[in-house]
Amino acid sequence: MATQPQRTEMDLLAQLNSASRGPASQYLTTAREALVCLIAIPGLLDKVELKRVPGGLSRNLLFGDDKVSVWAIVWSECARTPIHDHHCSCCFGVLSGFITELCFKRVDEECVAIVEEVTRAPGFVDCMLPSGPNIHQMVNSGETEAISLHIYGYDHNAHASSIKRVYQLAAL
Ligand SMILES: [Fe+2]
Repeated sequence: MATQPQRTEMDLLAQLNSASRGPASQYLTTAREALVCLIAIPGLLDKVELKRVPGGLSRNLLFGDDKVSVWAIVWSECARTPIHDHHCSCCFGVLSGFITELCFKRVDEECVAIVEEVTRAPGFVDCMLPSGPNIHQMVNSGETEAISLHIYGYDHNAHASSIKRVYQLAAL
């Protein structure tokens, strides 16, 4: 469960909410800056009771409103998402550990082909829009637990997750 937002978090949330009502490029810049700010806060998650799923990943809501939500995802070793895209903007930053991001292009309605595979180190921040390209898969590729922060442009009370649809890897 989300803890009570602190002052910095409330300020960030207000900025994100306001920016979400403007041009997409402005919102993404604001979200990127928010992630950089959050990642730089010492002990950011020290007072947060993070869920952990052995062999998998856990999504922990930190704070949010009707426009944006901020999450910490805890990745067990080798944990991975399905190949997916998003119905909303998706910004993420690596807090600890190493996350490999695999990026894909659509082959048909159900299948995709890999385009790129890049390992993201702590401090890395990236943002993408639902208009794409945004089909990807994230994997904890390190030898320890990893934690990432995510800012999604959706109301966490109205949607179960940020994922729009899941894809399969096309046969060669
Ligand atoms: Fe994603």
